[in-house]
Amino acid sequence: MTGLDTRMGSCTIVLAGFMGTGKSSVGRRLAARLGREFVDTDALIEQDAGTSITRIFADHGEAEFRAREKWAVAVAVGEEGRIVAVGGGAILDGENLAAMKAGGPVVCLTARPEIVLARVAHDTGRPLLQGPQPLETIRGLMAERADAYARADVTIDTSDLTLDEAVETLLHALADAGFRL
Ligand code: S3P
Repeated sequence: MTGLDTRMGSCTIVLAGFMGTGKSSVGRRLAARLGREFVDTDALIEQDAGTSITRIFADHGEAEFRAREKWAVAVAVGEEGRIVAVGGGAILDGENLAAMKAGGPVVCLTARPEIVLARVAHDTGRPLLQGPQPLETIRGLMAERADAYARADVTIDTSDLTLDEAVETLLHALADAGFRL
């Protein structure tokens, strides 16, 4: 890229947005592109708990998961220069959002509901989408969460983008929004 020096940056870039929008895949690719460390809050939670997110929801409920998620967001953004992917519900919490924004830009990834469904269809690791009508659930949750997702600094629709296109689009969008990485 021209005019954008991404090598020396120290801000933390957080990828937020709905399940299946590509936060982890794009985050990993972006981290490799910038030579940064990648951290995924869902993975942190699972490592710390020694069990899966599905089990945490099933055995202890969503409130326990959200408490663990708050801890994980704080830990993940606690060191500057990282690329951090947070779970789809993390940005709904004001304290999480403030922590996420403190170190740098928050990027919201979006995708059309049908694309999200296709991406998560064979994945049993998302307890919120395990009901009988997942497309309706996706549409409903997206509508409920629209205001929270709109609090991100920039938004990228990944529906029709390859991973590399998503990374390039994201870097240009951050530069256009005035963020120095
Ligand atoms: C959730 C999204 C999941 C995970 C948990 C809850 C949500 O993460 O944190 O199942 O509330 O949207 P991904 O967005 O990485 O799938």
